[in-house]
Amino acid sequence: MAARGLGLLTSLPLRARRSQVQRPLCRLLSCPGTVAAALGREEQSSGSAETGSEDRTPKKRFSEVQKERREQAQRTVLIHCPNKISEKKFLKYLSQHGSINNHFFYESFGLYAVVEFSQKESVASLQNVTRTPSLGTEAAIPFRSRYFNLKLKTPLNQTSEQPSVQCGTQSSPSSKKLFELLCCAESVDDQLNTLLREFQLTEENTKLRYLTCSLIEDVAAAYFPDCTVRPFGSSVNSFGKLGCDLDMFLDLDEIEKFSTHKASGNFLMEFQVKNVPSERIATQKILSVVGECLDHFGPGCVGVQKILNARCPLVRFSHQASGFQCDLTTNNRIALKSSELLYMYGALDSRVRALVFSIRCWARAHSLTSSIPGAWITNFSLTVMVIFFLQRRSPPILPTLDYLKTLADAEDKCIIEGHNCTFVRDFNKIKPSGNAETLELLLKEFFEYFGNFAFNKNSINIRQGREQNKPESSPLHIQNPFETSLNISKNVSQSQLQKFVDLARESAWILHQEDKDRLSPSNHQPWGLAALLLPSVANNMSLAKKKKKPASERIKNLLESIKSSSTENSTATNG
Ligand code: GTP
Ligand code: MG
Repeated sequence: MAARGLGLLTSLPLRARRSQVQRPLCRLLSCPGTVAAALGREEQSSGSAETGSEDRTPKKRFSEVQKERREQAQRTVLIHCPNKISEKKFLKYLSQHGSINNHFFYESFGLYAVVEFSQKESVASLQNVTRTPSLGTEAAIPFRSRYFNLKLKTPLNQTSEQPSVQCGTQSSPSSKKLFELLCCAESVDDQLNTLLREFQLTEENTKLRYLTCSLIEDVAAAYFPDCTVRPFGSSVNSFGKLGCDLDMFLDLDEIEKFSTHKASGNFLMEFQVKNVPSERIATQKILSVVGECLDHFGPGCVGVQKILNARCPLVRFSHQASGFQCDLTTNNRIALKSSELLYMYGALDSRVRALVFSIRCWARAHSLTSSIPGAWITNFSLTVMVIFFLQRRSPPILPTLDYLKTLADAEDKCIIEGHNCTFVRDFNKIKPSGNAETLELLLKEFFEYFGNFAFNKNSINIRQGREQNKPESSPLHIQNPFETSLNISKNVSQSQLQKFVDLARESAWILHQEDKDRLSPSNHQPWGLAALLLPSVANNMSLAKKKKKPASERIKNLLESIKSSSTENSTATNG
Protein backbone atom coordinates (compact mmCIF):
# COMPACT_ATOMS: atom_id res chain seq x y z
CA MET A 1 0.00 0.00 0.00
CA ALA A 2 1.34 3.39 -0.91
CA ALA A 3 0.09 5.38 2.06
CA ARG A 4 0.85 9.07 1.71
CA GLY A 5 0.48 12.04 3.92
CA LEU A 6 0.86 10.76 7.43
CA GLY A 7 4.39 10.98 8.65
CA LEU A 8 5.32 11.20 12.26
CA LEU A 9 3.75 14.24 13.76
CA THR A 10 6.27 16.61 15.17
CA SER A 11 5.64 19.02 17.99
CA LEU A 12 3.77 21.87 16.39
CA PRO A 13 2.20 24.88 18.06
CA LEU A 14 -1.03 23.87 19.59
CA ARG A 15 -4.00 25.81 18.28
CA ALA A 16 -6.70 24.60 20.54
CA ARG A 17 -7.32 22.55 23.58
CA ARG A 18 -10.20 20.16 23.95
CA SER A 19 -13.03 21.15 26.11
CA GLN A 20 -13.59 17.99 28.04
CA VAL A 21 -16.29 19.38 30.21
CA GLN A 22 -18.59 21.19 27.81
CA ARG A 23 -19.60 19.39 24.65
CA PRO A 24 -22.38 20.77 22.48
CA LEU A 25 -25.48 18.60 22.31
CA CYS A 26 -25.06 18.15 18.55
CA ARG A 27 -21.69 16.51 19.19
CA LEU A 28 -23.19 14.18 21.72
CA LEU A 29 -25.93 13.25 19.30
CA SER A 30 -23.42 12.35 16.64
CA CYS A 31 -21.13 10.54 19.02
CA PRO A 32 -21.07 6.93 17.79
CA GLY A 33 -21.83 4.33 20.33
CA THR A 34 -24.10 6.50 22.43
CA VAL A 35 -27.79 5.79 22.79
CA ALA A 36 -28.44 9.02 20.90
CA ALA A 37 -26.32 7.76 18.03
CA ALA A 38 -28.15 4.46 18.10
CA LEU A 39 -31.46 6.28 17.87
CA GLY A 40 -30.07 8.43 15.08
CA ARG A 41 -29.11 5.29 13.24
CA GLU A 42 -32.54 3.85 13.55
CA GLU A 43 -34.12 7.05 12.35
CA GLN A 44 -31.99 6.95 9.24
CA SER A 45 -32.94 3.30 8.88
CA SER A 46 -29.34 2.42 8.07
CA GLY A 47 -25.94 3.94 7.58
CA SER A 48 -23.98 3.85 4.40
CA ALA A 49 -22.02 0.84 3.43
CA GLU A 50 -20.46 2.42 0.43
CA THR A 51 -16.82 3.39 0.16
CA GLY A 52 -16.23 7.11 0.34
CA SER A 53 -19.44 8.07 2.02
CA GLU A 54 -20.86 8.12 5.49
CA ASP A 55 -24.31 7.46 6.84
CA ARG A 56 -26.29 7.41 3.65
CA THR A 57 -29.31 5.24 3.11
CA PRO A 58 -29.88 2.48 2.37
CA LYS A 59 -27.04 0.05 2.97
CA LYS A 60 -26.22 -1.53 -0.32
CA ARG A 61 -24.90 -5.00 -0.86
CA PHE A 62 -21.30 -5.21 -1.98
CA SER A 63 -22.29 -6.79 -5.31
CA GLU A 64 -24.83 -4.03 -5.96
CA VAL A 65 -22.24 -1.32 -5.31
CA GLN A 66 -19.72 -3.06 -7.57
CA LYS A 67 -22.24 -3.48 -10.37
CA GLU A 68 -23.45 0.10 -10.19
CA ARG A 69 -19.98 1.61 -10.03
CA ARG A 70 -18.70 -0.59 -12.82
CA GLU A 71 -21.53 0.37 -15.14
CA GLN A 72 -20.95 4.02 -14.27
CA ALA A 73 -17.24 3.67 -15.08
CA GLN A 74 -18.00 2.20 -18.49
CA ARG A 75 -19.79 5.42 -19.43
CA THR A 76 -16.94 7.54 -18.14
CA VAL A 77 -13.88 9.02 -19.85
CA LEU A 78 -10.62 10.44 -18.54
CA ILE A 79 -9.28 13.57 -20.23
CA HIS A 80 -5.90 15.21 -19.82
CA CYS A 81 -6.67 18.92 -20.18
CA PRO A 82 -4.61 22.01 -20.85
CA ASN A 83 -3.81 23.82 -17.61
CA LYS A 84 -5.96 26.79 -18.53
CA ILE A 85 -9.40 25.77 -19.62
CA SER A 86 -12.90 27.17 -19.48
CA GLU A 87 -15.08 24.60 -17.74
CA LYS A 88 -18.21 25.93 -19.40
CA LYS A 89 -16.82 25.62 -22.93
CA PHE A 90 -15.31 22.25 -22.13
CA LEU A 91 -18.65 20.86 -21.04
CA LYS A 92 -20.43 22.41 -24.00
CA TYR A 93 -17.93 20.81 -26.36
CA LEU A 94 -18.36 17.35 -24.79
CA SER A 95 -22.14 17.64 -24.62
CA GLN A 96 -22.20 17.36 -28.39
CA HIS A 97 -21.73 13.64 -27.80
CA GLY A 98 -24.52 13.25 -25.29
CA SER A 99 -25.67 14.48 -21.94
CA ILE A 100 -23.22 14.50 -19.06
CA ASN A 101 -24.28 13.03 -15.72
CA ASN A 102 -21.37 14.10 -13.69
CA HIS A 103 -17.86 15.48 -13.96
CA PHE A 104 -14.95 16.64 -11.85
CA PHE A 105 -11.42 17.93 -12.29
CA TYR A 106 -8.32 16.97 -10.37
CA GLU A 107 -4.62 17.70 -10.55
CA SER A 108 -1.91 15.07 -10.73
CA PHE A 109 1.11 16.40 -12.63
CA GLY A 110 -1.34 18.16 -14.91
CA LEU A 111 -5.03 18.86 -15.05
CA TYR A 112 -7.42 15.96 -15.59
CA ALA A 113 -11.16 15.72 -16.04
CA VAL A 114 -13.35 12.71 -15.29
CA VAL A 115 -16.55 12.94 -17.30
CA GLU A 116 -19.45 10.55 -16.88
CA PHE A 117 -21.90 10.47 -19.77
CA SER A 118 -25.47 9.31 -19.35
CA GLN A 119 -25.13 6.83 -22.19
CA LYS A 120 -22.34 4.50 -23.23
CA GLU A 121 -22.88 5.51 -26.87
CA SER A 122 -21.53 8.98 -26.12
CA VAL A 123 -18.11 7.47 -25.46
CA ALA A 124 -18.09 5.83 -28.90
CA SER A 125 -19.25 9.11 -30.45
CA LEU A 126 -16.34 10.95 -28.81
CA GLN A 127 -13.90 8.26 -29.91
CA ASN A 128 -15.13 8.63 -33.49
CA VAL A 129 -14.05 12.26 -33.68
CA THR A 130 -10.74 11.65 -31.89
CA ARG A 131 -7.51 11.34 -33.88
CA THR A 132 -4.28 9.49 -33.18
CA PRO A 133 -1.54 12.10 -32.72
CA SER A 134 1.26 12.43 -35.21
CA LEU A 135 4.41 12.81 -33.20
CA GLY A 136 7.04 13.87 -35.71
CA THR A 137 10.15 11.80 -35.04
CA GLU A 138 8.50 9.25 -32.74
CA ALA A 139 5.85 6.75 -33.76
CA ALA A 140 2.53 6.39 -31.94
CA ILE A 141 0.87 3.01 -31.54
CA PRO A 142 -2.79 3.60 -32.36
CA PHE A 143 -4.95 2.57 -29.40
CA ARG A 144 -8.56 3.66 -29.05
CA SER A 145 -9.00 3.96 -25.31
CA ARG A 146 -11.20 6.14 -23.08
CA TYR A 147 -8.23 8.16 -21.96
CA PHE A 148 -7.94 11.28 -24.10
CA ASN A 149 -5.73 14.28 -24.49
CA LEU A 150 -7.47 17.59 -25.09
CA LYS A 151 -5.62 20.31 -26.93
CA LEU A 152 -6.61 23.89 -27.56
CA LYS A 153 -6.25 25.08 -31.14
CA THR A 154 -5.75 28.60 -29.79
CA PRO A 155 -4.55 28.92 -26.21
CA LEU A 156 -6.90 30.81 -23.93
CA ASN A 157 -6.09 34.43 -23.52
CA GLN A 158 -5.90 34.84 -19.80
CA THR A 159 -7.13 38.42 -19.85
CA SER A 160 -10.22 37.92 -22.00
CA GLU A 161 -11.31 34.65 -20.50
CA GLN A 162 -10.73 33.62 -16.91
CA PRO A 163 -10.43 29.87 -16.74
CA SER A 164 -12.40 28.63 -13.78
CA VAL A 165 -11.84 25.05 -12.84
CA GLN A 166 -12.40 23.75 -9.33
CA CYS A 167 -10.05 20.91 -8.50
CA GLY A 168 -10.78 18.34 -5.84
CA THR A 169 -7.91 16.84 -3.90
CA GLN A 170 -6.98 13.20 -4.25
CA SER A 171 -4.58 13.12 -1.34
CA SER A 172 -4.84 12.92 2.42
CA PRO A 173 -4.21 15.99 4.61
CA SER A 174 -0.68 16.92 5.63
CA SER A 175 0.54 15.92 9.07
CA LYS A 176 0.35 19.55 10.15
CA LYS A 177 -3.26 19.92 9.06
CA LEU A 178 -4.22 16.61 10.64
CA PHE A 179 -2.54 17.58 13.87
CA GLU A 180 -4.42 20.88 13.94
CA LEU A 181 -7.72 19.17 13.25
CA LEU A 182 -7.15 16.60 15.96
CA CYS A 183 -6.19 19.22 18.49
CA CYS A 184 -9.34 21.24 17.67
CA ALA A 185 -11.58 18.23 18.23
CA GLU A 186 -13.82 18.17 21.26
CA SER A 187 -13.29 14.63 22.40
CA VAL A 188 -11.32 11.52 21.54
CA ASP A 189 -14.42 10.19 19.78
CA ASP A 190 -14.50 13.36 17.73
CA GLN A 191 -10.81 12.90 16.91
CA LEU A 192 -11.35 9.39 15.60
CA ASN A 193 -14.27 10.52 13.47
CA THR A 194 -12.26 13.48 12.19
CA LEU A 195 -9.42 11.22 11.16
CA LEU A 196 -11.87 8.96 9.35
CA ARG A 197 -13.46 11.90 7.53
CA GLU A 198 -10.11 13.28 6.41
CA PHE A 199 -8.53 10.00 5.30
CA GLN A 200 -11.37 7.97 3.83
CA LEU A 201 -11.69 7.72 0.07
CA THR A 202 -13.81 10.50 -1.34
CA GLU A 203 -16.62 9.87 -3.77
CA GLU A 204 -14.40 11.26 -6.55
CA ASN A 205 -11.43 9.12 -5.60
CA THR A 206 -13.65 6.05 -5.57
CA LYS A 207 -14.97 6.91 -9.02
CA LEU A 208 -11.43 7.34 -10.27
CA ARG A 209 -10.54 3.89 -8.92
CA TYR A 210 -13.40 2.17 -10.73
CA LEU A 211 -12.60 4.15 -13.88
CA THR A 212 -8.95 3.06 -13.75
CA CYS A 213 -10.05 -0.59 -13.48
CA SER A 214 -12.37 -0.07 -16.40
CA LEU A 215 -9.56 1.43 -18.50
CA ILE A 216 -7.30 -1.52 -17.67
CA GLU A 217 -10.14 -3.87 -18.56
CA ASP A 218 -10.19 -2.31 -22.06
CA VAL A 219 -6.51 -3.20 -22.45
CA ALA A 220 -6.90 -6.76 -21.11
CA ALA A 221 -9.91 -7.21 -23.41
CA ALA A 222 -7.51 -7.09 -26.34
CA TYR A 223 -6.55 -10.64 -25.33
CA PHE A 224 -9.63 -11.69 -23.41
CA PRO A 225 -12.79 -10.07 -24.75
CA ASP A 226 -15.55 -9.98 -22.10
CA CYS A 227 -13.10 -10.22 -19.21
CA THR A 228 -13.79 -8.10 -16.13
CA VAL A 229 -11.29 -6.13 -14.07
CA ARG A 230 -12.65 -5.58 -10.56
CA PRO A 231 -11.18 -3.53 -7.74
CA PHE A 232 -10.73 -5.33 -4.41
CA GLY A 233 -8.88 -4.73 -1.14
CA SER A 234 -9.02 -1.37 0.59
CA SER A 235 -10.28 0.46 -2.52
CA VAL A 236 -13.65 -1.22 -1.99
CA ASN A 237 -13.73 -2.76 1.49
CA SER A 238 -14.45 0.67 3.07
CA PHE A 239 -11.12 0.78 4.92
CA GLY A 240 -9.10 2.49 2.17
CA LYS A 241 -7.13 5.62 2.98
CA LEU A 242 -6.55 8.30 0.33
CA GLY A 243 -3.36 7.27 -1.42
CA CYS A 244 -3.78 3.51 -0.84
CA ASP A 245 -2.89 1.18 -3.69
CA LEU A 246 -5.43 -0.10 -6.19
CA ASP A 247 -5.76 -3.88 -6.10
CA MET A 248 -7.33 -5.28 -9.26
CA PHE A 249 -8.63 -8.70 -10.09
CA LEU A 250 -8.75 -9.85 -13.70
CA ASP A 251 -11.83 -12.04 -13.75
CA LEU A 252 -11.94 -14.47 -16.64
CA ASP A 253 -14.72 -16.62 -15.19
CA GLU A 254 -17.24 -14.00 -16.34
CA ILE A 255 -16.49 -15.01 -19.93
CA GLU A 256 -18.06 -18.39 -19.19
CA LYS A 257 -21.33 -16.66 -18.33
CA PHE A 258 -21.65 -15.39 -21.89
CA SER A 259 -21.86 -18.93 -23.25
CA THR A 260 -25.33 -20.40 -23.16
CA HIS A 261 -24.09 -24.03 -23.28
CA LYS A 262 -26.87 -25.09 -25.61
CA ALA A 263 -26.79 -28.80 -26.18
CA SER A 264 -28.58 -29.83 -29.31
CA GLY A 265 -29.40 -33.53 -29.67
CA ASN A 266 -26.33 -35.51 -28.88
CA PHE A 267 -23.93 -32.64 -29.62
CA LEU A 268 -22.03 -30.44 -27.20
CA MET A 269 -19.63 -27.83 -28.55
CA GLU A 270 -16.42 -26.87 -26.71
CA PHE A 271 -13.69 -24.34 -27.50
CA GLN A 272 -10.33 -25.68 -28.53
CA VAL A 273 -7.95 -24.48 -25.83
CA LYS A 274 -4.32 -24.84 -24.89
CA ASN A 275 -3.65 -26.81 -21.75
CA VAL A 276 -0.92 -26.04 -19.24
CA PRO A 277 0.18 -28.25 -16.33
CA SER A 278 -1.38 -26.21 -13.49
CA GLU A 279 -3.67 -23.32 -12.55
CA ARG A 280 -0.62 -21.43 -11.32
CA ILE A 281 1.11 -21.70 -14.70
CA ALA A 282 -2.10 -20.58 -16.43
CA THR A 283 -2.25 -17.56 -14.11
CA GLN A 284 1.39 -16.73 -14.80
CA LYS A 285 0.92 -16.95 -18.56
CA ILE A 286 -2.22 -14.80 -18.54
CA LEU A 287 -0.63 -12.13 -16.35
CA SER A 288 2.51 -12.22 -18.43
CA VAL A 289 0.74 -11.29 -21.68
CA VAL A 290 -1.52 -8.74 -20.03
CA GLY A 291 1.56 -7.20 -18.38
CA GLU A 292 3.28 -6.99 -21.79
CA CYS A 293 0.18 -5.42 -23.25
CA LEU A 294 -0.06 -2.82 -20.48
CA ASP A 295 3.63 -2.04 -20.87
CA HIS A 296 3.51 -1.63 -24.66
CA PHE A 297 0.06 -0.25 -25.33
CA GLY A 298 -1.59 0.78 -22.05
CA PRO A 299 -1.92 4.58 -22.11
CA GLY A 300 -0.58 6.02 -18.88
CA CYS A 301 0.69 2.68 -17.52
CA VAL A 302 4.32 3.02 -16.49
CA GLY A 303 6.86 1.02 -14.51
CA VAL A 304 5.22 -2.30 -15.34
CA GLN A 305 6.74 -5.14 -13.29
CA LYS A 306 5.71 -8.75 -13.69
CA ILE A 307 6.03 -10.42 -10.30
CA LEU A 308 5.01 -13.87 -11.42
CA ASN A 309 6.87 -16.04 -8.93
CA ALA A 310 5.17 -14.54 -5.87
CA ARG A 311 2.76 -16.73 -3.86
CA CYS A 312 0.03 -14.76 -5.56
CA PRO A 313 1.45 -13.78 -9.01
CA LEU A 314 0.79 -10.18 -9.98
CA VAL A 315 1.58 -7.36 -12.37
CA ARG A 316 2.48 -4.12 -10.63
CA PHE A 317 2.45 -0.74 -12.37
CA SER A 318 1.70 2.92 -11.87
CA HIS A 319 -1.23 4.51 -13.57
CA GLN A 320 0.21 7.94 -14.14
CA ALA A 321 -2.97 9.85 -14.81
CA SER A 322 -4.72 8.72 -11.64
CA GLY A 323 -1.55 8.46 -9.57
CA PHE A 324 -2.52 4.98 -8.37
CA GLN A 325 -0.04 2.22 -7.69
CA CYS A 326 -1.81 -0.79 -9.16
CA ASP A 327 -1.51 -4.51 -8.42
CA LEU A 328 -3.23 -6.70 -10.98
CA THR A 329 -3.89 -10.34 -10.08
CA THR A 330 -6.06 -13.07 -11.48
CA ASN A 331 -7.43 -16.28 -10.07
CA ASN A 332 -7.73 -14.52 -6.71
CA ARG A 333 -11.44 -14.84 -6.04
CA ILE A 334 -11.01 -15.46 -2.29
CA ALA A 335 -9.42 -12.02 -1.88
CA LEU A 336 -12.49 -10.51 -3.52
CA LYS A 337 -14.69 -12.39 -1.06
CA SER A 338 -12.50 -11.16 1.84
CA SER A 339 -13.09 -7.62 0.61
CA GLU A 340 -16.84 -8.25 0.68
CA LEU A 341 -16.62 -9.61 4.22
CA LEU A 342 -14.62 -6.60 5.44
CA TYR A 343 -17.07 -4.29 3.68
CA MET A 344 -19.91 -5.93 5.63
CA TYR A 345 -18.10 -5.61 8.93
CA GLY A 346 -17.29 -1.97 8.16
CA ALA A 347 -20.94 -1.22 7.50
CA LEU A 348 -22.44 -3.03 10.49
CA ASP A 349 -21.48 -0.42 13.07
CA SER A 350 -20.27 3.12 12.58
CA ARG A 351 -17.49 2.65 15.15
CA VAL A 352 -15.71 -0.02 13.12
CA ARG A 353 -14.28 2.16 10.37
CA ALA A 354 -13.32 4.97 12.76
CA LEU A 355 -11.38 2.54 14.92
CA VAL A 356 -9.73 0.73 12.00
CA PHE A 357 -8.62 4.01 10.39
CA SER A 358 -7.10 5.23 13.64
CA ILE A 359 -5.27 1.98 14.28
CA ARG A 360 -3.99 1.93 10.69
CA CYS A 361 -2.76 5.53 11.01
CA TRP A 362 -1.24 4.81 14.40
CA ALA A 363 0.60 1.78 12.99
CA ARG A 364 1.80 3.77 9.99
CA ALA A 365 2.98 6.67 12.14
CA HIS A 366 5.13 4.28 14.17
CA SER A 367 6.41 2.40 11.10
CA LEU A 368 4.67 -0.78 12.18
CA THR A 369 3.33 -1.03 8.62
CA SER A 370 5.17 -0.22 5.44
CA SER A 371 4.54 0.05 1.72
CA ILE A 372 7.48 -2.32 1.20
CA PRO A 373 6.80 -6.04 1.71
CA GLY A 374 8.66 -7.44 4.71
CA ALA A 375 8.30 -8.80 8.21
CA TRP A 376 5.80 -6.14 9.27
CA ILE A 377 2.13 -6.37 10.05
CA THR A 378 -0.11 -5.54 7.07
CA ASN A 379 -3.14 -3.29 7.09
CA PHE A 380 -5.26 -6.33 6.27
CA SER A 381 -4.02 -8.09 9.43
CA LEU A 382 -4.60 -4.97 11.53
CA THR A 383 -8.17 -4.75 10.26
CA VAL A 384 -8.82 -8.38 11.16
CA MET A 385 -7.36 -7.72 14.63
CA VAL A 386 -9.78 -4.82 15.16
CA ILE A 387 -12.71 -6.96 14.00
CA PHE A 388 -11.65 -9.71 16.40
CA PHE A 389 -11.35 -7.23 19.26
CA LEU A 390 -14.86 -5.90 18.52
CA GLN A 391 -16.21 -9.46 18.52
CA ARG A 392 -14.73 -9.91 22.00
CA ARG A 393 -16.52 -6.94 23.59
CA SER A 394 -19.37 -7.57 25.95
CA PRO A 395 -21.91 -7.41 24.43
CA PRO A 396 -20.12 -7.97 21.10
CA ILE A 397 -20.05 -5.10 18.64
CA LEU A 398 -19.51 -7.40 15.66
CA PRO A 399 -20.82 -10.92 15.04
CA THR A 400 -18.55 -13.87 14.32
CA LEU A 401 -18.15 -15.14 10.77
CA ASP A 402 -19.69 -18.45 11.81
CA TYR A 403 -22.79 -16.59 13.00
CA LEU A 404 -22.99 -14.70 9.68
CA LYS A 405 -22.83 -18.09 8.00
CA THR A 406 -25.81 -19.39 9.97
CA LEU A 407 -27.88 -16.42 8.71
CA ALA A 408 -27.05 -17.15 5.06
CA ASP A 409 -29.64 -18.43 2.63
CA ALA A 410 -29.25 -20.47 -0.57
CA GLU A 411 -28.36 -17.37 -2.61
CA ASP A 412 -25.46 -16.54 -0.31
CA LYS A 413 -23.86 -19.94 -0.72
CA CYS A 414 -20.33 -19.55 -1.99
CA ILE A 415 -17.66 -22.22 -2.33
CA ILE A 416 -14.32 -21.13 -3.80
CA GLU A 417 -11.67 -23.74 -4.55
CA GLY A 418 -13.24 -26.04 -1.98
CA HIS A 419 -13.37 -23.38 0.75
CA ASN A 420 -16.72 -22.48 2.23
CA CYS A 421 -16.95 -18.70 1.90
CA THR A 422 -20.65 -18.46 2.69
CA PHE A 423 -22.02 -15.63 4.83
CA VAL A 424 -25.18 -13.58 4.87
CA ARG A 425 -25.07 -10.54 2.58
CA ASP A 426 -28.36 -8.93 3.48
CA PHE A 427 -27.73 -6.29 6.16
CA ASN A 428 -31.36 -6.41 7.29
CA LYS A 429 -30.89 -9.92 8.65
CA ILE A 430 -28.22 -8.82 11.13
CA LYS A 431 -29.37 -7.30 14.41
CA PRO A 432 -27.49 -4.14 15.47
CA SER A 433 -25.27 -4.50 18.51
CA GLY A 434 -26.57 -3.45 21.91
CA ASN A 435 -23.09 -2.29 22.91
CA ALA A 436 -22.85 1.47 23.44
CA GLU A 437 -19.16 1.87 24.32
CA THR A 438 -17.48 5.05 23.15
CA LEU A 439 -14.66 5.12 20.64
CA GLU A 440 -12.39 6.52 23.31
CA LEU A 441 -12.96 3.51 25.50
CA LEU A 442 -12.59 1.11 22.58
CA LEU A 443 -9.31 2.67 21.51
CA LYS A 444 -7.89 2.37 24.99
CA GLU A 445 -9.14 -1.16 25.43
CA PHE A 446 -7.79 -2.19 22.03
CA PHE A 447 -4.30 -1.23 23.11
CA GLU A 448 -4.69 -2.93 26.45
CA TYR A 449 -6.15 -6.05 24.93
CA PHE A 450 -3.38 -6.53 22.41
CA GLY A 451 -0.72 -5.17 24.75
CA ASN A 452 -1.46 -8.18 26.95
CA PHE A 453 -2.55 -10.79 24.40
CA ALA A 454 -0.93 -14.21 24.72
CA PHE A 455 0.52 -14.16 21.21
CA ASN A 456 2.91 -16.96 22.14
CA LYS A 457 0.11 -19.49 22.50
CA ASN A 458 -3.05 -18.03 20.99
CA SER A 459 -4.34 -17.45 17.49
CA ILE A 460 -6.77 -14.73 16.39
CA ASN A 461 -9.83 -16.21 14.78
CA ILE A 462 -12.73 -14.06 13.51
CA ARG A 463 -14.62 -17.12 12.30
CA GLN A 464 -15.26 -18.21 15.88
CA GLY A 465 -14.63 -14.88 17.57
CA ARG A 466 -12.38 -16.37 20.21
CA GLU A 467 -8.74 -17.14 20.80
CA GLN A 468 -7.58 -20.57 19.80
CA ASN A 469 -4.40 -22.51 20.35
CA LYS A 470 -1.85 -21.62 17.72
CA PRO A 471 -1.54 -24.47 15.21
CA GLU A 472 2.01 -23.45 14.27
CA SER A 473 4.87 -21.48 15.73
CA SER A 474 4.74 -18.16 13.80
CA PRO A 475 5.06 -15.28 16.27
CA LEU A 476 1.70 -13.84 15.16
CA HIS A 477 -1.07 -16.17 14.07
CA ILE A 478 -4.22 -14.73 12.50
CA GLN A 479 -6.35 -17.34 10.87
CA ASN A 480 -7.29 -16.64 7.27
CA PRO A 481 -11.09 -16.32 7.46
CA PHE A 482 -11.74 -18.51 4.43
CA GLU A 483 -8.62 -20.60 3.88
CA THR A 484 -8.64 -21.61 7.51
CA SER A 485 -5.40 -23.57 7.45
CA LEU A 486 -3.50 -20.41 6.49
CA ASN A 487 -2.07 -17.65 8.64
CA ILE A 488 -2.46 -14.16 7.13
CA SER A 489 0.39 -12.81 9.24
CA LYS A 490 2.93 -15.55 8.71
CA ASN A 491 5.43 -12.95 7.52
CA VAL A 492 5.52 -11.08 10.85
CA SER A 493 8.76 -11.50 12.78
CA GLN A 494 9.07 -11.75 16.56
CA SER A 495 10.76 -8.35 16.73
CA GLN A 496 8.00 -6.66 14.73
CA LEU A 497 5.38 -8.27 16.94
CA GLN A 498 7.27 -7.12 20.03
CA LYS A 499 7.39 -3.59 18.63
CA PHE A 500 3.62 -3.71 18.15
CA VAL A 501 3.10 -4.95 21.71
CA ASP A 502 5.43 -2.30 23.18
CA LEU A 503 3.70 0.48 21.30
CA ALA A 504 0.24 -0.82 22.21
CA ARG A 505 1.20 -0.82 25.90
CA GLU A 506 2.69 2.60 25.65
CA SER A 507 -0.43 3.96 23.92
CA ALA A 508 -2.69 2.39 26.54
CA TRP A 509 -0.57 4.00 29.21
CA ILE A 510 -0.73 7.44 27.52
CA LEU A 511 -4.52 7.25 27.36
CA HIS A 512 -4.73 6.15 31.00
CA GLN A 513 -2.53 9.04 32.03
CA GLU A 514 -4.77 11.43 30.13
CA ASP A 515 -7.79 10.17 31.98
CA LYS A 516 -6.12 11.29 35.16
CA ASP A 517 -5.08 14.69 33.77
CA ARG A 518 -8.49 15.35 32.32
CA LEU A 519 -9.26 18.36 34.48
CA SER A 520 -5.99 20.22 34.03
CA PRO A 521 -6.60 22.42 30.95
CA SER A 522 -3.36 24.35 31.45
CA ASN A 523 -1.45 21.32 30.28
CA HIS A 524 -0.67 22.39 26.67
CA GLN A 525 0.28 19.03 25.27
CA PRO A 526 -0.98 17.07 22.27
CA TRP A 527 -3.77 14.93 23.59
CA GLY A 528 -5.81 11.86 22.78
CA LEU A 529 -5.22 10.41 19.34
CA ALA A 530 -2.76 13.20 18.45
CA ALA A 531 -0.54 12.15 21.36
CA LEU A 532 -0.59 8.57 20.13
CA LEU A 533 0.67 9.60 16.69
CA LEU A 534 3.71 11.36 18.08
CA PRO A 535 7.07 9.58 18.04
CA SER A 536 7.04 6.85 20.62
CA VAL A 537 8.78 7.21 23.93
CA ALA A 538 9.55 3.50 23.90
CA ASN A 539 11.08 3.78 20.42
CA ASN A 540 13.19 6.77 21.34
CA MET A 541 14.49 4.98 24.35
CA SER A 542 15.06 1.74 22.51
CA LEU A 543 18.75 2.38 21.93
CA ALA A 544 19.43 3.38 25.49
CA LYS A 545 17.16 0.79 27.05
CA LYS A 546 19.31 -2.21 26.23
CA LYS A 547 21.42 -1.53 29.27
CA LYS A 548 18.39 -1.15 31.50
CA LYS A 549 15.15 -3.04 31.85
CA PRO A 550 13.31 -3.28 28.49
CA ALA A 551 10.79 -0.46 27.93
CA SER A 552 8.10 -3.06 27.30
CA GLU A 553 8.63 -4.45 30.76
CA ARG A 554 8.59 -1.04 32.38
CA ILE A 555 5.42 -0.09 30.53
CA LYS A 556 3.81 -3.40 31.38
CA ASN A 557 4.67 -2.85 35.03
CA LEU A 558 3.28 0.63 34.81
CA LEU A 559 0.06 -0.63 33.32
CA GLU A 560 -0.28 -3.24 35.99
CA SER A 561 0.36 -0.71 38.68
CA ILE A 562 -2.27 1.61 37.18
CA LYS A 563 -4.75 -1.23 37.23
CA SER A 564 -4.06 -2.41 40.73
CA SER A 565 -3.34 0.91 42.36
CA SER A 566 -6.08 2.67 44.21
CA THR A 567 -3.98 5.75 44.91
CA GLU A 568 -4.05 8.47 42.25
CA ASN A 569 -0.35 9.26 42.11
CA SER A 570 1.32 5.93 42.42
CA THR A 571 2.58 5.84 38.81
CA ALA A 572 2.62 9.48 37.84
CA THR A 573 6.36 9.91 38.00
CA ASN A 574 7.23 6.92 35.85
CA GLY A 575 7.33 6.61 32.05
P1 GTP B 1 -3.87 -1.44 1.90
O1 GTP B 1 -3.55 -1.68 0.47
O2 GTP B 1 -2.69 -1.57 2.77
O3 GTP B 1 -4.65 -0.19 2.12
O4 GTP B 1 -4.84 -2.58 2.42
P2 GTP B 1 -5.45 -3.81 1.61
O5 GTP B 1 -6.53 -4.39 2.45
O6 GTP B 1 -5.82 -3.39 0.22
O7 GTP B 1 -4.24 -4.82 1.58
P3 GTP B 1 -3.39 -5.38 0.38
O8 GTP B 1 -3.30 -4.40 -0.73
O9 GTP B 1 -2.12 -5.85 0.98
O10 GTP B 1 -4.19 -6.65 -0.08
C1 GTP B 1 -5.38 -6.56 -0.82
C2 GTP B 1 -6.36 -7.59 -0.37
O11 GTP B 1 -5.81 -8.89 -0.57
C3 GTP B 1 -6.74 -7.55 1.10
O12 GTP B 1 -7.76 -6.64 1.40
C4 GTP B 1 -7.17 -8.96 1.35
O13 GTP B 1 -8.49 -9.16 0.88
C5 GTP B 1 -6.22 -9.74 0.47
N1 GTP B 1 -5.04 -10.15 1.24
C6 GTP B 1 -3.96 -9.43 1.55
N2 GTP B 1 -3.09 -10.12 2.27
C7 GTP B 1 -3.61 -11.33 2.40
C8 GTP B 1 -3.18 -12.53 3.03
O14 GTP B 1 -2.11 -12.63 3.62
N3 GTP B 1 -4.01 -13.59 2.93
C9 GTP B 1 -5.19 -13.51 2.27
N4 GTP B 1 -5.96 -14.56 2.21
N5 GTP B 1 -5.62 -12.41 1.69
C10 GTP B 1 -4.85 -11.34 1.74
MG1 MG C 1 -4.40 -2.66 -1.16
